[in-house]
Amino acid sequence: MSASVAVLSPEEVALPARSFSFEWFSSLPAYRAANREQLELFLQDLKLPSPWQGIDVACGVGLMGELCHEIAGRIGALIQRTICIDLDRQALDIAREKLARYPANFLQSLGQRLPLRDNVGSYLVLGNGIHMFGQQEKMVLFREASRVLRSGASMFFNSAFYQGTMVEGTERFYLDNVRAALRQIMRLRPRPAEMEGVKPEAAQHISAQEYIEFARQAGFTDIQHHEVEVMLDQELWEAICDYGPFARGALHYRYPAEIACPAMRSAIRQIFSDPDWKDKYSGVELDGRKIIPRRWLWVMARKP
Ligand SMILES: C[S@@+](CC[C@H](N)C(=O)[O-])C[C@H]1O[C@@H](n2cnc3c(N)ncnc32)[C@H](O)[C@@H]1O
Repeated sequence: MSASVAVLSPEEVALPARSFSFEWFSSLPAYRAANREQLELFLQDLKLPSPWQGIDVACGVGLMGELCHEIAGRIGALIQRTICIDLDRQALDIAREKLARYPANFLQSLGQRLPLRDNVGSYLVLGNGIHMFGQQEKMVLFREASRVLRSGASMFFNSAFYQGTMVEGTERFYLDNVRAALRQIMRLRPRPAEMEGVKPEAAQHISAQEYIEFARQAGFTDIQHHEVEVMLDQELWEAICDYGPFARGALHYRYPAEIACPAMRSAIRQIFSDPDWKDKYSGVELDGRKIIPRRWLWVMARKP
């Protein structure tokens, strides 16, 4: 690589107290706008009349729930309550703050064992988290979604981690991101210890068709899916690299987030400052910003 070699700053190396959460990524206007657009189409398509009971599974810091309330207000619908569920207590605490002005409850639980009664929800959303569930867990999750939804209610999920997510020509970007991150880790002194490097089953992406089949098997009908190309600039890439599960997964879980996140971020800076980035990575320029595109799947389905 001809660009200057990026090094980790001492601050980046010594950040054990940081959570490496999804908060930065989910605060970025482009990510919010893309989700808003998809959720607006989803909520407009709901068959059940408002007031609605919303369920946000794998809610993270609450973005999907927050956007649903915002959209409902705009389209003249009422959400009586949103139940936000995630296994991460820290994320739920942030979500509670962000949704403070809306009627919402926060439950720490696995998505595949929802602590809810049957037939309570008007809709269920799961934003960018379905790929974190193992193969079998995805099926269990969809069955749970079907159980807690009322007849006629709908489910929405989206993911930028599925088979087909990589835009043709951009493959080298992912390889170089990992290679440059590993080179930087190798230069760290003392050299960080390598962990065993287990690859969770969820890291094996499945195709859009497999997702659709799972939803069908769980009893959903009227399944619509869309694949859109999203334009990710340097800040979005740095922000996703700052999310622990992403950076750790890219490095095959061999390093903790404190090591993996700064190294992956620094590698992104290196890639984006490479004078040949366009040719090497099939990058595009949009309004003066450098972009590496990626595909995003979103799905809506109905409980009969
Ligand atoms: C990438 S974040 C997405 C957060 C949010 N939905 C959004 O779109 O901004 C994925 C979330 O899924 C949660 N998660 C992963 N596996 C889960 C499981 N089995 N049950 C519940 N939550 C889970 C993680 O804790 C994390 O907060």
